[in-house]
Formats: sequence, C-alpha cells, structure tokens
Amino acid sequence: MTTIFPVEKFSGIETPFYYYDVELLRRTLDKALEEAGKYDGFHVHYAIKANFNPQLLEIIKSSGMGADCVSGGEVRAAINAGIDPGKVVFAGVGKTDKEIAYSLDAGIFCFNVESVPEAEAIERLAAERNVKVQVAIRVNPNVGAHTHSNITTGLAENKFGVNYEQLDEVIDIIEGLEHLELIGLHFHIGSQILVMDDFIALCGRINELQELLHETRNLVLPHINVGGGLGIRYDAPDKYPIPDFELYFSTYANNLKLFPGQQVHFELGRSIVAQCGSLITRATYIKHGTCKKFIIVDAGMNDLIRPAMYDAYHRIENLTSDKADGLYDVVGPICESSDVFCKERRIPETERGDILAIRSAGAYGEAMAFGYNCRELPKAVLSTELE
Ligand code: LLP
Repeated sequence: MTTIFPVEKFSGIETPFYYYDVELLRRTLDKALEEAGKYDGFHVHYAIKANFNPQLLEIIKSSGMGADCVSGGEVRAAINAGIDPGKVVFAGVGKTDKEIAYSLDAGIFCFNVESVPEAEAIERLAAERNVKVQVAIRVNPNVGAHTHSNITTGLAENKFGVNYEQLDEVIDIIEGLEHLELIGLHFHIGSQILVMDDFIALCGRINELQELLHETRNLVLPHINVGGGLGIRYDAPDKYPIPDFELYFSTYANNLKLFPGQQVHFELGRSIVAQCGSLITRATYIKHGTCKKFIIVDAGMNDLIRPAMYDAYHRIENLTSDKADGLYDVVGPICESSDVFCKERRIPETERGDILAIRSAGAYGEAMAFGYNCRELPKAVLSTELE
C-alpha cells in the first residue's frame, strides 16, 4: 500500500487522534510567507480559530506570523504561544469587557471594531487605563462568496461588521473618542473560497470605499485588513497539499488599489493548517443494514463536526486495507443520525480494527471538537513525535 502515513507507528496509539504532518505545516508556512513577501507591506496573521493546538501554535509562531483572534481565549492562546502582541488583531461581534480588558493589558496591535457600543466599551476601558488603543472598523462589504451559506460572513444579512450606510457615522463617533485611534478597515467575506473572482469583488468594494473616504473626508487609513478565506482542495489533498498562495496574493496585489504606504493584512486559517491534519480512527464494527453497509468508526461528530454541520466532504482512506472497493457509509458512535462522515463512498473493503484517515482535517477539526456523550476530546500526535 502506498500512503503518506507511518501506519505501522499508528497501531500502538489509541484512536481517535489527530495526526499532524509537521513537515507539511512548515512547508505551507514557508510558501505562504514567501508569496506574501513578494509584495511590500503584505502581512500574514494566522487565524487561530482554525486550530489552537499549542504545539502547532509553537511552530506557527516560529514562522513569524502574527495572529488573528476572535475571543479573549484566543488572544491568550496567541500570547501564551509567544506570538508578539504587537502582531495580534482581535475581531468578533461580542467582545466582553473582560476580553477587552485582557487584550488592552496585553498590548495587542488592533481591535477590529464591529459596532458603536463596542467602540464605546473599548473607549471606557482604555480611559480607565489611560492608554490610547488602535482600532480598525470591520466593514460589511456585502460581497457574496461561492461557499457554504453557514460560512459566508460578508453579506448584509450577516451579523458581522458595520454597513456602508452607517460607516460615516461610525467613523465620526470613533474619531470623537479620545482613547481610540482609527488606523484601518477590516473585511472578511467568508471561508473555503477557491474562486478568485470573489476576492476580486472584495477588492473592488474596498477600492470604491477607499476612494469615497478619500474624496469625502480626505481620509486614508494606514491599514487594510482583507481577512482570510482561501480554500483548500478537500477532494485531492495529496495532489494539492499546499494551497495556491501565489495566485491568492497576486490576486490582491493586482486588484487592490492602495494609497502610498498602506499596509495590507491577511488572516489565513484553513489554508495554513487544513492539509497537514488528519483524523485517524479505527473501524469498530462493520454493520450490514437493510440497504447499506456501515463502517462504524471510533471517531464521532464530536471529534470532527464539519460533515454534520456543513455537509463538508473529507476524503476517507483505509490505511490498512487495499482490497477491492466496497460501498459504505462511514458513521460515528454518537447518538445522533447526523453523526455521519460520508454516505455511499467507495472505500476498500474494511474489517473491524482497520485504521482509517479522514483527510484535510487540520482546520476546524480539533478546534471544534466537543465532549458530547461524555466523550474525551481527541488527542493530537505530531509526526515529529513518531520519528
Ligand atoms: N478572519 C475572520 C474575521 C474570520 O471570521 C475567519 C473565519 C478567518 C479570518 C479565517 O478564515 P479562513 O482563512 O480559515 O477561511 N468552521 C468553518 C469555518 C468558519 C470560518 C470562520 N471565520 C469550517 O469548518 O468550514
């Protein structure tokens, strides 16, 4: 059998667990930074929400990337990993006083503000500390994205950001707050986007807005944050282990009109960590239903919720069988009918005890795991631990 996994080393490890290929993570980080580095003023922040495993954060930190956080816990995870607070941005529609206070005390680079009451809360807490804090306004660009409706964020109907119509008023209010310094605009249209036209549409909206702010208010802000969203090839992880960062960054370089000296920030999550991670699981039973064959594995939707939540496709490989294919539904042990990893998939004939890999699970896999049915959270094993 040819497989990229050290299967013989897996046999002694209790399943399910996340397996991370450290070498691939490093190559992915290098490539992302190499491509971004071709353009002056491009900065990459890793979106911690995709995977906050401390061992991975350690590797990501050593690449020099900053961090994009969406909770006080994520800011803490970034700082605990040793990421420079001066490279940490904090977005999210519901920042609590406690989270804001912690991030102010940590001295993060910028708060991406999503509403007026939030700006006022930051002002109050900054005033108490007598500090001036850098903020960007998260703008809702009303740009669609070719992705699952649960992971679009930049449409008028979504809860994120400030609408164009309200932007002038929000800028006035923020400029009137003594302890806030408006340094940028933030956007994010969604996730798992492979159609570059979506990013081009976002660039168009940003360009229009920048021109408008320049003409009407003589305002040019030094930082433009375009969010994340670059997708990965779930269908072919071995053929496309590293996303097309060259195309992604050049799309922005070619379509975003910048004023002199403006810095551009990216918040990439999935494209950095998805392909290096797989959920490794064992077939507990093979069950013949009325009209189907089930592989019941020891991983469940609590370990990887993406198929149940977004109908997400993940390749599934049997690492210990190379028999002829059978047609299977791969399901977990959780007491929910949606605990299904795939339906009617061709997979080599599988027996009880076989080891399976659910691929491309490094992003929003371990990070979204939960303990339903009193299950233990999945463990993580790094390839470097098995050398
Ligand atoms: N910046 C902001 C403001 C975000 O909301 C997100 C993701 C990112 C950056 C990173 O996006 P990425 O580069 O990873 O596409 N759990 C879902 C994905 C949710 C994405 C949420 N926001 C999934 O498993 O597909």
